[in-house]
Amino acid sequence: MIISIQEVFTQSEVAQILALMEEAEWVDGKVTAGAQATGVKQNQQLAENSPLSRQLGERIFQALSQHPVFISAALPLKIYPPMFNRYRQGETYGLHVDNAMRVVPGTLTRVRTDLSATLFLSEPASYEGGELCIEDHYGTHSIRLDAGDMILYPSTSRHQVMPVTSGARICSFFWIQSMVRNNDQREMLFDLDQSVQSLTQQHGYQHADVIRLSGLYQNLIRQWADT
Ligand code: NI
Repeated sequence: MIISIQEVFTQSEVAQILALMEEAEWVDGKVTAGAQATGVKQNQQLAENSPLSRQLGERIFQALSQHPVFISAALPLKIYPPMFNRYRQGETYGLHVDNAMRVVPGTLTRVRTDLSATLFLSEPASYEGGELCIEDHYGTHSIRLDAGDMILYPSTSRHQVMPVTSGARICSFFWIQSMVRNNDQREMLFDLDQSVQSLTQQHGYQHADVIRLSGLYQNLIRQWADT
């Protein structure tokens, strides 16, 4: 399942974040690429442990922890500290699959990458190219979202960032280890949860079917989730 998470940040929050980045130091993006990816990655990143990177990462954690669609779709167990990249004229990230495990820098904590996230920060009109292309069994999906919106997709997918032909594309990217490792199970739980939410709106918490379906959701989480 590829899902877009709307308005992680408002327009004014995005503007604030971009302003903070203007003074920032950008380093070569190859420093965090896996062996296969190093050869195809051309971009810049905010230094991973810089105070700005951490501060903005905290803002993303905070925004996501209050975003019901993200929680329902990702069922997050661990989130890798968000990183930030910038693609300018001619820069690109060729076809690759993300590494299965990431070690949080300076710790022994490993995050298994079940889901990959890209949070778009640049207004789409401010650059050309730079589509995130994700392959699945239905074909290739070309994605370019409004500033403040985020795409969530299975980390098992092959994907690439097409060359930017003008302007600058600034995004945050990171990975999520889900409580539910299996993509199909997680997708069924998301559908069930969305239906429970909408039935609750229509009939209230006390409706017999809402109670039964909520119970079913919780019991499937018991079967499938790990902590
Ligand atoms: Ni990637």
